[in-house]
Amino acid sequence: MKVIRVANENDGGKEALKVFEAALANGARTFGLATGGTPETTYKELVASDLDFSRCTSVNLDEYVGLGPDDPQSYNYYMRTRLFDAKPFKANYLPDGLAADPDAEVARYNEVIAAHPVDLQLLGIGRNGHIGFNEPGSPVDGKVRKIKLTESTIEANARYFDNEADVPQYAYSMGIGQIMAAKQILLEAFGDKKADAIAAMVDGPVTPEVPASILQRHPNVTVIVDEAAAAKLK
Ligand code: F6R
Repeated sequence: MKVIRVANENDGGKEALKVFEAALANGARTFGLATGGTPETTYKELVASDLDFSRCTSVNLDEYVGLGPDDPQSYNYYMRTRLFDAKPFKANYLPDGLAADPDAEVARYNEVIAAHPVDLQLLGIGRNGHIGFNEPGSPVDGKVRKIKLTESTIEANARYFDNEADVPQYAYSMGIGQIMAAKQILLEAFGDKKADAIAAMVDGPVTPEVPASILQRHPNVTVIVDEAAAAKLK
């Protein structure tokens, strides 16, 4: 893993932009994308840049079950307002939170991933080491599935909702096996709440209890961390 330390998340966004620029220049055309607080500065940099994604495809990591594209808390809405409206892609794929048949939606999204191998996968990390919504104990060869979110993840995501009770209990998420299949991975983490997860991911043993630790086995991972998130690294 290549660890890049930055002063703050604004500088993190600037470093991430360089990774996207290089990937595009090297022929990357399929981007795996993440939502949440962490990639906000990255998307701002991408939007402000002159990068052209019109020949590119995106596949997102996850979506809340029960939320549709017009719901401001949905990841579909997030992606449109943070990136896609300003930077059109050839195609954007996300799980459909309103799908009537969850099993069929899981099968559909697995086909989407299989048809669009990811060149560069952007990731955040949960306080418990989750990637996507692959919570501790998730299978390392896993594919897309409907996942029950843990209490710690629901609590962490409650900041975006009026009440913790409004946070969806389930999400569709790409599996760890699909994340690991990306040619290149860029993981970002900012703030002291991520320090334990970053230390466990980089310096700890590879274990399903820290889902991100499997990234130690991926040949091309860049980690961008601010000082607070890097504080417990060896
Ligand atoms: C989001 C995702 C999650 C987040 C993680 C960190 O698409 O897959 O794994 O990256 O929960 O969230 P933030 O960035 O809000 O701290």
